[in-house]
Amino acid sequence: MSDTDNRTRPASPPAQEGGHSPNGRKAPDHVAIIMDGNGRWAQRQGLPRLEGHRAGTDNLNRILEAMEKHGVRYVTLFAFSTENWSRPWEEVMGLMAILKSVVEREALNLHRKNVRLRYLGRTDRLSPDLWASIQWALELTRANTGLNLSVAFDYGGRDEIVQAIHRIVKDNIPPEQITEELFGRYLYTKDLPDPDLIIRTGGEQRLSGFLPWQSVYSEYYSSLVFWPDFDEAELDRVLLAYSHRERRFGSLYHEK
Ligand code: FPP
Repeated sequence: MSDTDNRTRPASPPAQEGGHSPNGRKAPDHVAIIMDGNGRWAQRQGLPRLEGHRAGTDNLNRILEAMEKHGVRYVTLFAFSTENWSRPWEEVMGLMAILKSVVEREALNLHRKNVRLRYLGRTDRLSPDLWASIQWALELTRANTGLNLSVAFDYGGRDEIVQAIHRIVKDNIPPEQITEELFGRYLYTKDLPDPDLIIRTGGEQRLSGFLPWQSVYSEYYSSLVFWPDFDEAELDRVLLAYSHRERRFGSLYHEK
């Protein structure tokens, strides 16, 4: 069989088509980021860890603007994992307070920029006032058609899968109807394409429970830069590396 024989080929590769950035390079449609290194950034300057998380938060706007310039339509940020509850209580409460103040401070700005916000993760362990602020921001930006910004908070990939199974069982779905497509509709990411590229800053080379179902064909990039220092120039280097990756999605033919 020739690899150009359309009769025997599935209709399309199992992932979305790659886009191109305004500079003509192949660009990812969906970039997911593990924003690691805030603590080490703070430590290096003799500051408390929470100052690293604040500096990491201040980094968000410039990176979102740069993503848009590169033609990225979906950005997903890993802000708090289900395992992060085991950090010192002061840091946990600090991260909750940072999320609340970012939502309250930035939601209107993001709305003006036509950004659509989404929340990925558990909501049952958030304080009612934090969840109320998040719901207000989600509602405010629901109809927006620009950049899709998702924040993974109290998110763990295994937990997401277990929660999906609970809901499938509660819905009495018979086993023969459970397909990959149906399962995907029970995940927090049901409205999102799979990530094309996952970036982890801070030099570690692991996913730490981030989007295990969704990342099976994602490209992965580990940047040595701590998240608060991750700037447009480093993003450009990452996206240049991505543009040279050859993605075959398990087949023999290539993404254009
Ligand atoms: C990992 O760095 C980072 C986090 C656990 C939190 C990331 C959160 C933010 C940047 C702020 C909130 C974000 C949003 C979207 C509102 P680390 O503490 O593990 O760093 P280390 O590995 O150097 O200790």
